[in-house]
Amino acid sequence: MRRLRLLPGWRFGHRRNHAKGICFTGVFDANGAGSELSQAPVFARGQYPVLGRFNLGTADSSAPDATVRVRGLGIRVSTPDGQEWRSAMINPPVFPVSTPEAFYELLRASGSKDPNAMETFASAHPEFAAFGDWAKNAPWTDSYAEDRFNSLNSFVFVDGSRAEHVVRWSLLAAAKPVTVSPSELAKRGPDFLEQEIAQRVASGPQRWTMVVTVANSGDPTADPSKPWPADRRTIEVGTLTAQQVQAEREGPCRDVNFDPTVLPSGMRTSDDPFPAARSAAYAKSYDLRTAEAKDYPRTTTGAKP
Ligand code: HEM
Repeated sequence: MRRLRLLPGWRFGHRRNHAKGICFTGVFDANGAGSELSQAPVFARGQYPVLGRFNLGTADSSAPDATVRVRGLGIRVSTPDGQEWRSAMINPPVFPVSTPEAFYELLRASGSKDPNAMETFASAHPEFAAFGDWAKNAPWTDSYAEDRFNSLNSFVFVDGSRAEHVVRWSLLAAAKPVTVSPSELAKRGPDFLEQEIAQRVASGPQRWTMVVTVANSGDPTADPSKPWPADRRTIEVGTLTAQQVQAEREGPCRDVNFDPTVLPSGMRTSDDPFPAARSAAYAKSYDLRTAEAKDYPRTTTGAKP
């Protein structure tokens, strides 16, 4: 994973990917419906504290917001028994590639000096076309509050009778999306997304509905580049509310690793190979960036952390 150091714009002390972001605190209100699929305590009707981070899919912590196509949301939902559900989701409907190995190749191609590297990559990975189509044609919004965030990876939910259900989940924005052209966004300041969400949350809590989609047998559970048919069963399990934006540099997200394999009892990883690969990469990134804290001091005046 040392190669992740080569991603353009990367700086010491920051996350090796999704380096630019803004932290928040809030709650997850479970409506109880998720208990049908999983005995995880987080689905029992009630309210649970959340630490979250809106972020951009770039290794460049100073990238102008309008230049980054993929937006992300990491959450950690805690229950009183000490268990946690961590999830890091993104806004495209599919992942660009089928395997962790192919993602490594994609990172190499996108950072390559060879002008044909991406074309060569895309022709060797036909699954990339669906993501490419989304990246080119899907509308942009000017707010994290209007975006939908998807787990893309599948997980297994275990219910009270030990029956297993393979699922993916998504957070659907309560705010109506307003489409803004990329050229319009380029006229905004480089950090308009975090400024907008800070103002928006200060003027009122922002909400997303958590929807769980259940696979049918035979669905491609091991490949996040393949969507499941649109008629699959979905269950609304609760609402995520962002209540307060927190400082990114000094705040509570900085030392958190939104590792997607940190799951409560009643949830586990599936045959999707990504969460294990992600866990290894996120741990390496976490170890490196926390060891580099002196290069990203907690105060902008340069005090030692
Ligand atoms: C093998 C594939 C992947 C690799 C190697 C990878 C790598 C990374 C790394 C190194 C980080 C920084 C972790 C940290 O320092 O805390 C990160 C963050 C993140 N990744 Fe991935 N990633 C992969 C797949 C995915 C997928 C499939 C998704 C979503 C569906 C995703 C969404 C995110 C998000 C939202 C964050 C930011 C979390 C935060 O705010 O800390 N990644 N990724």
